Amino acid sequence: MQKIVIRGGRALKGSVEISGSKNAALPLMFASLLSRDEMTFHRVPVLRDIRTTKQLLLQLGVQLDDFAPGTLRIKARDIIDHTAPYELVKTMRASVMVLGPLMAREGRADVSLPGGCAIGARPIEQHLKGLEAMGATIELQNGYIQARADRLKGADFSFDLTTVTGTENLIMAASLARGTTVLRKCAIEPEIVELAHVINRMGGSVHGAGTTTIVIDGKDRLEGIAHEIMPDRIEAGTYLLAAAITRGDVTAVGCNPSHVAALLEKLDEAGLRVETTATETRVISNGNIKSRDVVTDPYPGFATDFQAQYMALMALGDSRCDITENVFENRFMHVQELVRMGAGIRVSGRTARVEGVKKLSGAHVQATDLRASASLILAGLAANGVTEIHRVYHLDRGYERIEEKLSKLGADIRREKDDML
Ligand code: EPU
Repeated sequence: MQKIVIRGGRALKGSVEISGSKNAALPLMFASLLSRDEMTFHRVPVLRDIRTTKQLLLQLGVQLDDFAPGTLRIKARDIIDHTAPYELVKTMRASVMVLGPLMAREGRADVSLPGGCAIGARPIEQHLKGLEAMGATIELQNGYIQARADRLKGADFSFDLTTVTGTENLIMAASLARGTTVLRKCAIEPEIVELAHVINRMGGSVHGAGTTTIVIDGKDRLEGIAHEIMPDRIEAGTYLLAAAITRGDVTAVGCNPSHVAALLEKLDEAGLRVETTATETRVISNGNIKSRDVVTDPYPGFATDFQAQYMALMALGDSRCDITENVFENRFMHVQELVRMGAGIRVSGRTARVEGVKKLSGAHVQATDLRASASLILAGLAANGVTEIHRVYHLDRGYERIEEKLSKLGADIRREKDDML
């Protein structure tokens, strides 16, 4: 076990290079199962979720080659196993994205049900309903989803709710199905657009990604290609929020500002100066943090993946605001930890009321999930004194070299062995 130790109170200043996107890389790695050819990905972030996905692919019999730092080659010539085991699915729910490609290519997949997680129940019935509409039979045996089909066939399917990985799973399934699939009420996140783009470059036919209706013509085979992963919008936004909370001036380099438009709008309302070019975003603080309400929503709304970090910022706001979590039912695990640092936050149902305080103070806190960890890092950077964040393995799921990047911006942060837990 490791911990992160931060001595707070330094304004962050400078530029930070944004890594490849975790939530784009994961579906793309699973999409490699759709082809027997070699896929090459560049700008692959070094993260725990990427490692977990590699482990899962290896177990299926896929060949992997870490060609050079940030470059990954995946060749799924033969698939020898069809199981995503509990040990892997429980550490990374995104493992369920193995379902669509395996069903499309092999007509068979045994995937452990993920169960609950730190941010809510997170069921996957939409993924399963979609596959059933495409002709799959689904049974639950010993905690595993057993999905079977001769060959998936095109279908007209409408999601009952907006789901990102659900949309991705069904796009992948439909890409090798017989005939045309129409998916309605799809999520429209940029990572979905990227997945569609890659499948099209592989010889697939996916139209309408980025809108709520996606039409996919199934192909008999897809080819291997090389692709550079898009920048991580959540990582970029987290560093911009770090500039805001430390009253600093940070430029996120190599990111797409339009992907974080809702966050930038909110930062502007909160009194930050925001400057953008095509590939860079700069956030400059004048010292004030205005309290502003926020409601999370699917893209292009304010991302749930920024909610915890934004709450840390609002903890130092000049008055009171309400933060409403609309996407996940239980994503307030960071609240009690922020309160331990002196924040004034009260949760009622899906809304957290945040009374801004003048100062946060360093404390021992525990990370509970990936974005909650990031929020505690931000709070620690702004707090008086020393903050020790335990269980940082959550952080390593989604932030590449975070101590190094924050140190370069002037933070006093280091990683140490944790003897306490
Ligand atoms: N939902 C259902 N049934 C389903 C599918 C989803 O009820 O069949 C519910 C979920 O429980 C949740 C809501 O629908 O309340 C939205 O969930 P969604 O399926 O969109 O989330 P996800 O696909 O599991 C992805 C990201 C998350 C991000 C959410 C929302 C990846 C690998 N994960 O999760 O990222 O928070 O979309 O934008 O893309 C993170 O990176 O920290 C992270 C959690």
